Amino acid sequence: GVKWRLKKPVVLVGMMGAGKTAVGTHLARTLGVPFLDSDDEIVKAANMTIAEIFARDGEAFFRQKESQVIARLLAGAPGVLSTGGGAYLAEANRMAISQLGVAVWLRADLDLLWQRVRHKNTRPLLRTPDPYGTLKSLLDARAPVYALADLVVDSKPGLSIDAMAERVIAT
Ligand code: S3P
Repeated sequence: GVKWRLKKPVVLVGMMGAGKTAVGTHLARTLGVPFLDSDDEIVKAANMTIAEIFARDGEAFFRQKESQVIARLLAGAPGVLSTGGGAYLAEANRMAISQLGVAVWLRADLDLLWQRVRHKNTRPLLRTPDPYGTLKSLLDARAPVYALADLVVDSKPGLSIDAMAERVIAT
């Protein structure tokens, strides 16, 4: 049975393709707490896809909604919160997350990220002439910021989702 209860939300941060949703879902189930996803909440509220929101309202608008959703989810019952890859870049979000939750960077190297995102068309930031180069630039720019997280857990090809969730719990 569950011997303890989560006091603070566990907030997964890191690049698109790192496995935040997969690991987060599993982790939440293991801990017996709700799984929350900032992208999902934005999509539900807008009744549009992320790509449609970027196209119609622009990235700045998306970032505003993202910050609002994260603040709201952090204030609710503690669960596992998966955030969009850009969320942790905003200082206000980082402050809210560190005050109210525990940030976990799900770290993955460029090639693994690329394998995970290359066949998908859901990430507007990668709709460029050179999506691999764009992904690399994003990772290079963001890694030092993700490194500010409280915990770092490696997302590796051989590691099962279960193993990664176990690591988060163990740390
Ligand atoms: C973004 C990542 C996406 C989504 C949006 C922007 C980013 O979320 O929020 O496309 O800036 O890296 P995932 O990390 O869940 O793919």
